[in-house]
Amino acid sequence: MEFVINGGKKLFGSVAIECAKNAILPIMAASLLCRGKVVLPECPKISDVVSMTEILFFLGADVKLDDDLLIDASNVENKLIPVKLSKKLRASILLLGALLARFKKARITYPGGCDIGLRPIDLHLKAMKELGVEIEENHGVINCSAENLHGGVVVFDCVSVGATENLILLSVMGKEKVALVNVAREPEVVDLCNFLNMCGANIVGAGSSEIVIDPVDKLNGVRYFVMKDRIVAGTYLLAGAITGGSVEVRGVMPQYLTSFIKKMCQSGCFLDVNGDKIKLRSGLALNSVGFLETNVYPGFPTDLQAPFLALQCVSRGDCVIKENIFDSRFKFVLELIKMGAKVNVNGRLAFVEGGLLSGAEVWASDLRGGAALVLAGLNASGYTKVHNAGYILRGYENLDKKLSELGAEIKLN
Ligand code: UD1
Repeated sequence: MEFVINGGKKLFGSVAIECAKNAILPIMAASLLCRGKVVLPECPKISDVVSMTEILFFLGADVKLDDDLLIDASNVENKLIPVKLSKKLRASILLLGALLARFKKARITYPGGCDIGLRPIDLHLKAMKELGVEIEENHGVINCSAENLHGGVVVFDCVSVGATENLILLSVMGKEKVALVNVAREPEVVDLCNFLNMCGANIVGAGSSEIVIDPVDKLNGVRYFVMKDRIVAGTYLLAGAITGGSVEVRGVMPQYLTSFIKKMCQSGCFLDVNGDKIKLRSGLALNSVGFLETNVYPGFPTDLQAPFLALQCVSRGDCVIKENIFDSRFKFVLELIKMGAKVNVNGRLAFVEGGLLSGAEVWASDLRGGAALVLAGLNASGYTKVHNAGYILRGYENLDKKLSELGAEIKLN
């Protein structure tokens, strides 16, 4: 599949933002712990959600993916998830915590996900061991037993979104109180905790760097509105900016995008925040922001680094972008260079000189890098073909349709 874009059209209009991929996937894993039906309204039809649905279905859950996503995990069995399913997405590792909490034993293979550098699971496993989980690895299969799970204080060496979520899932129905220190403060972690608390869990501190979990015996099914996707929202606002147009995103929590909004203002755009809407109006010209570095929340999100770099390629002046979270998140730059971008990468730094882009044939190699290529294509003169669109469809629902409604000339073939 490929996106074909005829660039240079200014985008105008308003777009409703879908539920967050990085919130709904952990919540789907958490549904394995609920007695009764979990209903997640307005579920985005993105391929990562479809892949997680396939895994839950394989485990024996009753799953229906319509407008709403319905999950009834009553009949789930403890099975080894085939590699071809677990390799489809990084979030499959979260099933380890959920299966251990439910069955006290789990066997799992290494997860997949976008190739953006090393993505080990050592932090997940180390923290689990500290709570008494016994772990053995055999020919790529990780065998875990939580028969002797106990409470305690776990201090993470580094902040990890996935490890924080996995430990919450493991501990929520344990026997003793668990305190997790130096945890991820990302809004998606807060959303997972809000979901679990609505199901009957007792978790406090989500959104701060310390989370305390008082275990409960059971969790109920609920109807839960998952938070909207801040990364998707940022991408549409960037689409407005890079085309010199004006785009509004609806249904978002603007406070989750503070660091991004600040950088967009610095680049010469005007942003109006009104309730759950953010409206971007382009200024006379786009200015380089000089320096940008990614960081854990509330810092600038690594998932918006690539889309933002595309904007810097067409902004007046030079910019240095530092990627602090993943060690290989500039692969898409080689493709941008084919479009005329002036970027030099040195390790975790990218030096960007603003200029003009022209259409070219390019290949996506990960989700957000792929989104950056689409944004570049919207700005570039002439036609851009973005191959490997499958990567982008992992995390953006109906991207071609929504961009077309804003005035872009884009087709998915
Ligand atoms: C999640 C998001 C991803 C986002 C990332 C950072 C999901 C499904 N994915 O990924 O979109 O880019 O947060 O905001 O929610 N690390 C280790 N050992 C571990 C775990 C992580 O060294 O056991 C390192 C990673 O290599 C990386 C850093 O920690 O350098 C952050 O990773 P982490 O926060 O765990 O990201 P994910 O949960 O995989």
